[in-house]
Formats: sequence, C-alpha cells, structure tokens
Amino acid sequence: MHILVTGGAGYIGSHTCILLLEAGYEVIVFDNFSNASKESIKRVEKIAGKPITVIEGDIRHREDLDKIFDAYKIDAVIHFAGLKAVGESVEEPLNYYDNNIHGTIVLCEAMAAHGCRSIVFSSSATVYGEPHTTPIKEDFPLSATNPYGRSKLFIEEMLRDLYISDPAWKIVLLRYFNPVGAHISGTIGEDPHGIPNNLMPFIAQTAVGKRAFLSVFGDDYDTHDGTGVRDYIHVMDLADGHVKALEKIESFNEVMTINLGTGKGYSVLDMVKAFEKASGKHVPYKIAPRRAGDIAKCFADPSYAKKILGWEATRSIKEMCEDSWRWQSNNPNGYAEEIVGVAEKDPRVNHS
Ligand code: NAD
Ligand code: UFG
Repeated sequence: MHILVTGGAGYIGSHTCILLLEAGYEVIVFDNFSNASKESIKRVEKIAGKPITVIEGDIRHREDLDKIFDAYKIDAVIHFAGLKAVGESVEEPLNYYDNNIHGTIVLCEAMAAHGCRSIVFSSSATVYGEPHTTPIKEDFPLSATNPYGRSKLFIEEMLRDLYISDPAWKIVLLRYFNPVGAHISGTIGEDPHGIPNNLMPFIAQTAVGKRAFLSVFGDDYDTHDGTGVRDYIHVMDLADGHVKALEKIESFNEVMTINLGTGKGYSVLDMVKAFEKASGKHVPYKIAPRRAGDIAKCFADPSYAKKILGWEATRSIKEMCEDSWRWQSNNPNGYAEEIVGVAEKDPRVNHS
C-alpha cells in the first residue's frame, strides 16, 4: 500500500515514517521543507533500512499534488504538513490560514479527483481552548484563542462537512497532546529553527549549553507546584497511533476524533527534574511571568483511543527525557552544521 505523508520530513512525520516502513507500507513524503531538513529523511531510511520516495512541493499547489497522484496509486494520506507556531500565527494569521486551511482544501480536492478518500489529520489538544476540567475527553467543548488553533478547528469542521457531502471519505482526526522525545537511535528528533517555543527542546538546549537558563512561565498556577501541567507523549507512541489509525481506517463509518495522550500530567518543574536525572546535566531555570494564552492544566483522557484503535502510550517520562537527550547531545545543532553561541538572556522574556 502507498501512503502519502505530507510534512513527512518534519518532527512527527519523520518518526511516523519509520513505523510505516517497518509495517511494510510504501512511503511517499511530500514536503516543502519550510520547517524541515532533507537529512531527516536520509536518517529515517537508514534506521528502517528501506527507501522513501521524497517529493518536494507545496500542498497549496495543485499541480505538485496531481503529479504524485498521477504517478502513484495512493491508498491513504497522513496529513502532517502545516505551520504550528502559536506566536507566529498571531503575527501572520493569513500565512497560517493559507498554509493550513487552504493547503488542506487543495489536498482534499486533489485526493477526491484521484479517487483517494482516506485521510489521517494532525489536529491538536489546542482545540479544547481552556478546558473546564481534566482529563479532557473528545466531546468537550471546542474553542480557539489564536489563528493556529482556529486553523485546526476549521479544518476539523471542514473535514466533517466533506464526510457529510460524501460518506465514502474515511477521516480520522488525531488530537495530539504534547509530543516530545526522539527515536531511540538518537539520530532523528525535534529540530526547531531559532529559539524553541516549546518546553522540551528548550530544556534540552539548556542542558547541552546552547541556552543559559530556562524561563519557567509562571509558578502561581493552581497545580501541585504552581507551574503549568501538560500531557507529554513520546513521539514514537504518537507515531504508533498513526499506524493503528491507518490499519483501522477502512472500517470506520463516521469521522473519528481521537485524543492521543498518556492521561498523565507533569509540571514544568517535574520535567526539569526528570530531564536532569536522565541527562546527568544541570538545567538552570528562573521563574518568569506567565506566558499569554497559557492554561494551568491540560491532559487527556486517552480511553477512546484504546477502545477504538487498541492504542495506548507505553513510554515513560524517563524514556522521553533520555531519548530527547540522546538526540540533543549527539546533534547539538540539530540537522545543521553551524555552531550557535550561548544566549545569556531569554529574548522571549521582558528583562527590563
Ligand atoms: P513540523 O514543522 O516539524 O512538521 C511539519 C512539516 O510540514 C515540515 O516538514 C514542513 O516543512 C512541512 N510543511 C509546512 N507547510 C507545508 C506546505 N504548505 N506544503 C508542504 N509541506 C509543508 O511539525 P510537527 O511537530 O511534526 O507537526 C506536524 C503536525 O502536527 C502539524 O500539522 C502540527 O500542527 C501538528 N501538531 C503538532 C504538535 C506539536 O507540538 N509538535 C501538537 C499538536 C499538533
Ligand atoms: N514553558 C515554560 N518555559 C518555556 C516553554 C514552555 O515554562 O520556555 C511551559 C509553558 O508555560 C507550559 C508548558 O511549559 O506550561 C508547555 O509549554 P509548550 O510550549 O511546550 O506547550 P503548550 O502546551 O503550550 O503547547 C503545545 C504546542 C501547541 C499545541 C499544544 C497542545 O505548542 O501547538 O501543545 O498539543 F496545540
């Protein structure tokens, strides 16, 4: 079976490609490399010992997509491609709506035109906005507080409308919680451009000496130690969720919306301690003001994924930290060659 993986060179896509190859699928990666390196695919091929067909192109360009659908009989699409930085989405909303929403429309049009109607879509726990309670179930109210989150919400609605218009579509919406970690080989991992927005890459870069300290955004939340609580999930567990979704997709007779999380919440300081233990490195931190838009607690009720997909996360926080550290320490500059100096200040925080 041929699986088209849009955004397959990125963080979650590259890890998913390994499991797809191992499961015997033919993998075609389609990526514009706006936030990825070609090196990630080379390393995935090495890990899996199998080749990947890589096509450079943009999901907003119908002619790029038509070339693939004309050349291969694609059985299903896993759709990772899109922009994901919350802060950037506030500054560049049109770019986010264009890449994420317009891109998904063009992709679905190309799929329908070529008789491919099976899609697994990367949604996010961000669609729950500020949840009234935790753990979060799939039927909780939805809302968005920024253009990135709104793009995910719109796409979910759009895909539901598509199914209503033509029930031949097979659609799985996977709502990820906080993906962290790396493949156990330490050869592929998350490689954010510039200063990381997310906690785990920032901790890892601090431990390796690229950042002077971590800013902990708020210690006065209503949580066990005052810092924000999230559901961190190992990227290989997340990747496995996609393979399970693909195995079941043809049997679904409705749009499936599924949380992918562990069901456990860890605070920022829990993560710092776990990372220090896993890496043997000190992670200096300073308490900073709350980050705008952050919520106190967010963790999943993952029971529906277990019931429907027979999937559950198996990797611990210890493994998440150990695997992140292996990737970070083996590749201090990610996939790039250049050396970046140590930042003495966190430019995201107002120091005045
Ligand atoms: P990523 O940036 O590493 O991967 C996205 C990939 O899509 C990149 O390789 C990028 O080059 C490619 N891409 C972007 N726009 C494109 C376009 N117009 N055409 C073709 N390729 C394009 O991000 P990731 O962390 O692997 O996330 C994958 C998906 O999961 C995204 O849709 C993201 O919104 C979603 N998601 C991520 C997280 C997270 O914390 N990482 C959480 C929830 C949901
Ligand atoms: N945090 C810090 N310092 C940092 C970075 C983060 O203290 O330098 C804290 C945050 O305040 C939060 C926790 O660490 O309490 C996690 O923050 P992340 O930025 O790693 O993750 P978020 O939960 O804010 O958001 C992430 C993605 C979103 C996605 C969401 C749910 O960035 O795109 O998970 O999947 F929608």
